[in-house]
Amino acid sequence: MTRILGISGSLRRASFNTALLRTAQGLMPEGSTLIEGTIAGIPLYDADEEQANGLPSAVKTLKAQIEEADGLLLFSPEYNNAMPGVFKNAIDWTSRPASDISKVYGGKPVAVLGASPGGFGTILAQDSWLSVLRTLGTRPWWSGRLMVARAGDVFDEEGRMTDEKMRERLEKFLTGFVEFAAGPTN
Ligand code: FNR
Repeated sequence: MTRILGISGSLRRASFNTALLRTAQGLMPEGSTLIEGTIAGIPLYDADEEQANGLPSAVKTLKAQIEEADGLLLFSPEYNNAMPGVFKNAIDWTSRPASDISKVYGGKPVAVLGASPGGFGTILAQDSWLSVLRTLGTRPWWSGRLMVARAGDVFDEEGRMTDEKMRERLEKFLTGFVEFAAGPTN
């Protein structure tokens, strides 16, 4: 079983990105599963707090989930043409202490996708993750891209994906990524 961890970078109850993650859970290829990780409960990074008390429990949970996963999918909203601070903050916490980065992130298959009510579907947020993914030593998947633009027309009020073409594109994206994550590392 190929275990993929998905993290939505939004805390919003009706988040399009969380809806995208939950839709993806139902479209995973056979022999794979998409576990939902969360950034909820992660405080703002504070080096003094880290020194005094170590990692907060929500960070420990997410960090362990990332380490155990065969691949990581970041469902990233776009704020001001970059990733949201709350999402970056969560990933920054999971990169502590720096001596753990290679065991948590080294060679980890990763892809970024995202949804936005706007016309560009998080393209710049996705690009803004690239330097982070490089710094953490991950193994990004370059063969597919998924930008869900005009998300208000793609999901219904309950967060169900109603756009069949987008569902097909998401399924294809997931198939390609899982194949990459399950495959040999060299
Ligand atoms: C946004 N939004 C936004 N959208 C976009 O496509 N490009 C952008 O640069 C921005 N900038 C931006 C800044 C801030 C501070 C907020 C709060 C919002 C809109 C954003 O895509 C929208 O709120 C989404 O619904 C956020 O994702 P979730 O919460 O639905 O997953």
